[in-house]
Amino acid sequence: MNRRNELQFPRLELVPAASDQEQVLANLLELYAHDFSEFHDIEIAADGRFGYRDLPLYWSEPGRHPFLATLNGKLAGFALVKQGSTISNNRTVWDMAEFFVMRAYRRHGIGTALAHQVWRRFPGAWEVRVMRSNRHACSFWRAAIRQFIGRSVRPVRVEKNGEPWNVFTFVSPSQ
Ligand SMILES: CC(C)(COP(=O)(O)OP(=O)(O)OC[C@H]1O[C@@H](n2cnc3c(N)ncnc32)[C@H](O)[C@@H]1OP(=O)(O)O)[C@@H](O)C(=O)NCCC(=O)NCCS
Repeated sequence: MNRRNELQFPRLELVPAASDQEQVLANLLELYAHDFSEFHDIEIAADGRFGYRDLPLYWSEPGRHPFLATLNGKLAGFALVKQGSTISNNRTVWDMAEFFVMRAYRRHGIGTALAHQVWRRFPGAWEVRVMRSNRHACSFWRAAIRQFIGRSVRPVRVEKNGEPWNVFTFVSPSQ
């Protein structure tokens, strides 16, 4: 496992988001959805928001974990983690439901450092899904996972709701 990135960003923190921070996550999810609209067909609603229906579940359903990321105390991104596969009936696997780094902080290794923090928090089997149309993220996950487990993982191609995805599976070891 590689801790180089964490040492590079001593003030990069991954903090569980409290229920009174739901709106903060909702705001960041709008930026995330807007990024997605570049390669994926998602419609904005008449109120000017994309919305994220499942967000409240992160504070009401067990097995869901919302995180905010800060760099030097400022918002830098988020991660939404949930337990249970969306492609098989494996209920224990960890799923990176959503993951985001603010544009101002990209290509500095921050996404990698954050992903590694998330995986270390939840040892066990992981699934990381990415739409194949999200080509930057496909390269990102391939590199971040390789650094984390020390070898390359070849993604499995799956089709869900007519959309082709790459699914990376690996195990995060216990500390
Ligand atoms: C994907 C994302 C999380 C990457 O965050 P980041 O902090 O820029 O990632 P890193 O700096 O740690 O990148 C590590 C490596 O991933 C690859 N990578 C990251 N962004 C890339 C891009 N835009 N194009 C090609 N490769 C990329 C590179 O190999 C990079 O190493 P390098 O910069 O030395 O070449 C960020 O771009 C993002 O939030 N995108 C929008 C949301 C999204 O797509 N999330 C993933 C959903 S599945």
